[in-house]
Amino acid sequence: MTEAVLLVGGQGTRLRPLTINTPKPMLPVAGVPFTVHQITRARDAGVTRIVLATSYRADVFQEFIDGADLGIEIVIATEDQPLGTGGAIRHALPYLQSGANEPVLVFNGDVLSGLDIDALVRHHVDGGADATLYLTPVADPRAFGLVPTDAFGRVTQFLEKPQTPEEIVTDQINAGCYVFRRSVIDSIPGGRSVSVERETFPALLAANSLVQGVVDRGYWLDLGTPMAFVQGSRDLVLGIAPSPAVPKPGAYLVLDGAEIASDAVLTGGSTIGRCAQISAGVVVEGSVVFDDARIADGARVTGSIIGAGATVGANCVIDGAVIGDGASIGAGNELLAGVRIWPGVQLAPGALRFSSDA
Ligand code: GDD
Ligand code: MG
Repeated sequence: MTEAVLLVGGQGTRLRPLTINTPKPMLPVAGVPFTVHQITRARDAGVTRIVLATSYRADVFQEFIDGADLGIEIVIATEDQPLGTGGAIRHALPYLQSGANEPVLVFNGDVLSGLDIDALVRHHVDGGADATLYLTPVADPRAFGLVPTDAFGRVTQFLEKPQTPEEIVTDQINAGCYVFRRSVIDSIPGGRSVSVERETFPALLAANSLVQGVVDRGYWLDLGTPMAFVQGSRDLVLGIAPSPAVPKPGAYLVLDGAEIASDAVLTGGSTIGRCAQISAGVVVEGSVVFDDARIADGARVTGSIIGAGATVGANCVIDGAVIGDGASIGAGNELLAGVRIWPGVQLAPGALRFSSDA
């Protein structure tokens, strides 16, 4: 038996307004909540039991995630107060069944990857390590945890979100998946907030525990920002990112009950949610349109997220924007890179235009 703890209790602040109603791991991606991609990948790697470490909007997980449907045992552990990443792992301890020396996997709940999970666990067990971290190289590591290793693959430091150029000692980052010897989880202090990155890993290194890193150069993405979220969704639909929950990759994905005009153009790994309506002459490219959204004639939506039940008026141009659930964008608006419209907001027709010919 292999057990895993899935950390899904964060507030998803950088993904607001999408995460006001829905916790980040429950946002729909390629037809299912994001967490289902992670759960089914873990299941296919031999994980038989997952403790979902929830806090923010735990009710949404309770309502929509059913282990029986997914072919795996799921136990939900809810923190009354968010305990941080390490505190959440410690809080999950009474829910685990593994023996003190057995490996327990931990996953951040917002990472999409092609990691060979089973190989990571085997590397951990074969090396007799206390903890084994999945690492990946990235172009700009500043938003992550930097994890340099020595010639033997031993972790030498853990630098979470480096503040100064001197701290950028490697491009190798914590990719958000670890294997712990269960007794390491026992040693995390209980009943208070703990950061696994800022407290637990540095403490293990200070105690001279064996902490190994495994560098994997395959697909990796943290879906924590709107543009990363759109990219992850696109990559799943196109089959660039692997998931058992996307059985048939293609140029786009249209979910049940959606109505698509015959001359609408859907490309670039777009997803059209359940019962959404895409009218004549609309172009949707590399975007995510949530359930029940409506896009009127001639609108152009690229690299954007259209929230559930939102409406986009005729001839709008939406590019690199996030439209909250139920918002209504009047005809002829142009919403460009980085614009976020809060849920339920109503934008008058033509209120925002940028083109010189407007
Ligand atoms: N249960 C619970 N309780 N979960 C939490 C809590 C909490 O208090 N706080 C955060 N989490 C969960 C989040 O839901 C997310 O799945 C995971 O822990 C990591 O939190 P993020 O907020 O996404 O962290 P990050 O992306 O800034 O940084 C982390 O991930 C990077 C890789 O994506 C760190 O682990 C970095 O070191 C790492 O490089
Ligand atoms: Mg993250």
